[in-house]
Amino acid sequence: AAMVKERVAAWKQWLRAVEVVREFEESFETPTERLQRVVNSLAIEMFAGLASENASKVRMLLTCVDRLPNWNEEGIYYAIDIGGTSFRVLKVQLGAGYTIIDKKVQLQPIPTKGTIEDFFNFIASTLKNFIEKEGDKGKALGFTFSFPIEQFSITSGSLIRWTKEFSIEEAVGKDVAQCLNEALVRNGMHLQVNALMNNTVGTLALGHYYDKDTVAAVIIGAGTNACYIESNEAITKGQGLLTNSGRMVVNVEWGSFRPPQIPLTPYDICFNNETQNYYDQGFEKMISGVYLGEIARLVFHKMAQVSDVFGTAVDGLAIPFTLSTPCLAAIREDDSGDLREVGRRLEEHLKISNVPLKTRRLVQRVCDIVTRRAARLAAAGIVALLQKIGRDGTCGGTTRVRRITGMPKRSVIAIEGGLIQGYAAFREYMNEAVGEILGEEIAATVVLRMVEEGSGIGAALVAAAYSSNQHNSIH
Ligand code: GLC
Repeated sequence: AAMVKERVAAWKQWLRAVEVVREFEESFETPTERLQRVVNSLAIEMFAGLASENASKVRMLLTCVDRLPNWNEEGIYYAIDIGGTSFRVLKVQLGAGYTIIDKKVQLQPIPTKGTIEDFFNFIASTLKNFIEKEGDKGKALGFTFSFPIEQFSITSGSLIRWTKEFSIEEAVGKDVAQCLNEALVRNGMHLQVNALMNNTVGTLALGHYYDKDTVAAVIIGAGTNACYIESNEAITKGQGLLTNSGRMVVNVEWGSFRPPQIPLTPYDICFNNETQNYYDQGFEKMISGVYLGEIARLVFHKMAQVSDVFGTAVDGLAIPFTLSTPCLAAIREDDSGDLREVGRRLEEHLKISNVPLKTRRLVQRVCDIVTRRAARLAAAGIVALLQKIGRDGTCGGTTRVRRITGMPKRSVIAIEGGLIQGYAAFREYMNEAVGEILGEEIAATVVLRMVEEGSGIGAALVAAAYSSNQHNSIH
């Protein structure tokens, strides 16, 4: 009788944990119809953001990029890429006629705290050493700075605010290109910034270099964001920045979008309490690498609070940000029958050992649910871009009723970012959702193209375009 009692007790514990996961799954559901409404809301915000500053939840920053490389650029260019988990310096050698002859990348961990002078000195001296080692003088320097910046020209712009948990407070409001230029001078260098841009813009430039049908770029890495090519007629704000080239790349900053159709679950809310920018960067917190692992950890923590499925030594589960997103991805991707990798990860990262197989399965399911919502929301973001430029097969604008007006032109979206690059399940869910929202026929006109190192190489390309005399406006 005692044994039966014990079994019943264990079974009850188990059911409680399952219930947590079941409820979590339900609250994370994103049926197609709801995604469609997310698309419409984001497209509306995009329209509003082009009308005036602060009119929208997305900033729709004018990037001053009205030229993209046109394959005539030649020579050696350098680039600096800051904004993700690591900082990169790059050398790119271009040959006329669509060739990247050579590229070298050096990765470096980046200080996310400290003084602004230290920060830029560190970057300038890293570049200096890199150039000395390479032994080639560069023709121009591209600077990718992947945070919201208000651009005054192609070579200047001030930091609006930090995202992705970076925090060097005194940098806010400063012209980051000028800060870097001054640090370069302090380090005895002649090179100055020829083009300052967001990482999405670099990715667009590289995507466009490969394929002229590229209309937009999306980053899904530590953070998430997109940019696209907009026609000047659609932009009513910032008239002073518009040129007679007729088009400009717009940095959406979609990370700050809060999709009203997606309920904030207890996990999202509690999560906002732990991070910088409370309640801001809503879209980013549901999609990107800094945050996904943490959502899963919160669910595991809840499971451990209501049941004993993780045993008793569960202190590791209470510590914020101990489960990284690469770890979440590895758990989701473990396809060994006995989920050995899941067990190993739980032990290594969360310090819980001997988790039985059926609990490991539950753990994997949680990681799957987190991934799926993220990927589907990213898909909604992509379709909103297409809707904004009239390539989604509706009559354009914000109509809720889909009226087919003929097949749209082929549209390529360049995509990159640490999270999506190494995560097949994410890409599959995203592709699937784009198909669901657009319908297979329209979806067939859309190419989601993964590019690599675009934010860095692209910066060199844009710098090349702006330092050459030819004016190659965007087509
Ligand atoms: C954050 C930044 C944005 C960047 C994105 C991807 O959302 O605010 O500028 O593009 O992360 O790195």
